[in-house]
Amino acid sequence: MKLNLKIWRQNGPNDKGRMVDYKIDGVDSDMSFLEMLDMLNEQLIAKGEEPVAFDHDCREGICGMCSLYINGEAHGPDRLTTTCQLHMRKFKDGDTIYIEPWRANAFPVIKDLVVDRSALDRIQQAGGYISVNTSGRTVDANNIPIPKKDADDAFDAATCIGCGACVATCKNSSAMLFVSAKVAQFAKLPQGRVEAADRVQNMIAAMDAEGFGSCTNTGACEVECPKGISLTNIAILNKEFLLAQTK
Ligand code: SF4
Ligand code: FES
Repeated sequence: MKLNLKIWRQNGPNDKGRMVDYKIDGVDSDMSFLEMLDMLNEQLIAKGEEPVAFDHDCREGICGMCSLYINGEAHGPDRLTTTCQLHMRKFKDGDTIYIEPWRANAFPVIKDLVVDRSALDRIQQAGGYISVNTSGRTVDANNIPIPKKDADDAFDAATCIGCGACVATCKNSSAMLFVSAKVAQFAKLPQGRVEAADRVQNMIAAMDAEGFGSCTNTGACEVECPKGISLTNIAILNKEFLLAQTK
């Protein structure tokens, strides 16, 4: 199929940036979206032009690196699908496709479609972990019975891949769905209770310091999240934060 691509090109964080038109032919419907961009880049390199910079790593929907705004939607038109798992069969011959980076002050553009998402790493470093007691008196985690529902909820929250689509989609550039997933994955597990109060307070402080906005319950983040992280986790985050104030 033939496609008209309108791609955001930006030389660096201080460049104003602009949309640039490209035409591409011979795109197979079985190609992934990133393979289509690979094909474009091969053609640009053959012509002596600079290839389009975009982020990717696993190409299996696991790492959260591929972060593109496609036709105005984070990760494109498919639900529960990362950009790398999006296939060209979702588009038609002759389509025009707009491709842009995540837009949020806390995610500055590094080049073209690549943004700096290290703000999410810093939030994670503020509390998204469990300290391990290696004193020799550690209880084997598998000896602690955990209700199946709690284990399932914790696992569901833990599927967040840190892609940042929730931030890019939110009109407030809020990172609360991400932070809530990282807090909720520990909140229901006994291992997570020990540092629960510090975790939630430190992660929310880090989130605010990075300049992310607040949640106003629009729910766009949940719709665009490729891992189906539920807004319920934000309720858990708020509950954990309130509980921490009483400690
Ligand atoms: S909550 Fe969803 S959209 Fe947000 S970072 Fe995690 S996986 Fe990505
Ligand atoms: S490249 Fe890893 S999730 Fe898309």
